Amino acid sequence: MKQKVLVTGGVGYIGSHTVVELQNEGYDVVIVDNLSNSVISVLDGITKITGIRPEFEQFDLCDSVKTTNFFQKHKEIAVVIHFAAFKAVGESVQKPLMYYQNNLISLMNILENMKRQQIQNLVFSSSCTVYGQPDELPVTEKAPIKKANSPYGNTKQISEEIIYDLICSDDNLKAIALRYFNPIGAHESALIGELPIGTPNNLVPYITQTAIGKRKELSVFGNDYHTPDGSCIRDYINVVDLAKAHVVALKRLLAKKTKQNFETFNLGTGIGVSVLEIVNTFEKSTGQKVNYKIVGRRDGDVEKVWSDSKYANDELGWKTERSLEETLLSAWNWEKQYNSKKNE
Ligand code: NAD
Ligand code: WQD
Repeated sequence: MKQKVLVTGGVGYIGSHTVVELQNEGYDVVIVDNLSNSVISVLDGITKITGIRPEFEQFDLCDSVKTTNFFQKHKEIAVVIHFAAFKAVGESVQKPLMYYQNNLISLMNILENMKRQQIQNLVFSSSCTVYGQPDELPVTEKAPIKKANSPYGNTKQISEEIIYDLICSDDNLKAIALRYFNPIGAHESALIGELPIGTPNNLVPYITQTAIGKRKELSVFGNDYHTPDGSCIRDYINVVDLAKAHVVALKRLLAKKTKQNFETFNLGTGIGVSVLEIVNTFEKSTGQKVNYKIVGRRDGDVEKVWSDSKYANDELGWKTERSLEETLLSAWNWEKQYNSKKNE
């Protein structure tokens, strides 16, 4: 019999790509999403890619009654992959309570029901944001967790602590927290991709929207950092490579191969790339010009961060496979496809 996986936030950017990889590997997927930051047509994209329409329930995971009813109905769930959360760093500074409520209450509702229904396996979406500006680069999983520089980042730190504390109290529960660096790109079919609502905060959607003419120009936030070209450095990871890591983590849990009941892994490429390098590589791989201007630094940006991916490579047997060129091309193909569909 197929094993059933609950994917919370499965209509969103990383969740939808993970649903595709899970279905490709033969898992039965049920998605819960309240569509607060996604659109239902994503399910059509998933169905076109895999030939299977995932089961879907629309409700807010902060609603404890609905969450409990859902888990009572789906007793056969073997693993929960928990993506559902708000993720905009700047918005979290403006609306901290909204972030603490959404990201923490939903997590606690899920954990309570996992315990009640004796569901033993959790994969949790964490973030490189938990490291802030690390003292040493590349950053390993052992780097100290510093005070978070946003309420959003704090919700990820607190979430990891909540999961850890629960696991310490219950030998049956196991969790893997995956700390993503900067996920970019789209599925190679261009049927699913990143769908920012309103003006994008993240670099790559801003670039694709500028290239297609939706935005006048990209603002490059700072060229006076202590980096070779003066712009910030990040570790940009292809979203399909990232999605595949979730399947690997899930298999590790199901095969009971975890070394501790709570494990954390960095998911990155191990390579730091500057903002200006991203712009240049985008132009080269797509043939599209990106209008940009240099402006002042953005509040809260760390200067440079990239992952030490050795632990994930060795322990999970996972590594990134897609190049930066093909990843940026996939983001561009998605932008073009999405706009042509909208204009039909
Ligand atoms: P996303 O916004 O595209 O997807 C999140 C999904 O969760 C959305 O479809 C949204 O509607 C849903 N959701 C939010 N709150 C909900 C709730 N209370 N109940 C039900 N559904 C809810 O975001 P994403 O980029 O796919 O990120 C997924 C996860 O990965 C998040 O936890 C995010 O914090 C984490 N993460 C993202 C990045 C990134 O740069 N995209 C980096 C590191 C970590
Ligand atoms: C990347 C680089 C900007 C937009 C965020 C979260 C982090 C994690 C990943 C969730 C930076 C520069 C950007 C623009 C620019 N998310 N930039 N012009 O800030 O590294 O990480 O997403 O957990 O927590 O903080 O990603 O894509 O916003 O920025 O110059 O219009 O691009 O300064 O150097 P960031 P980003």
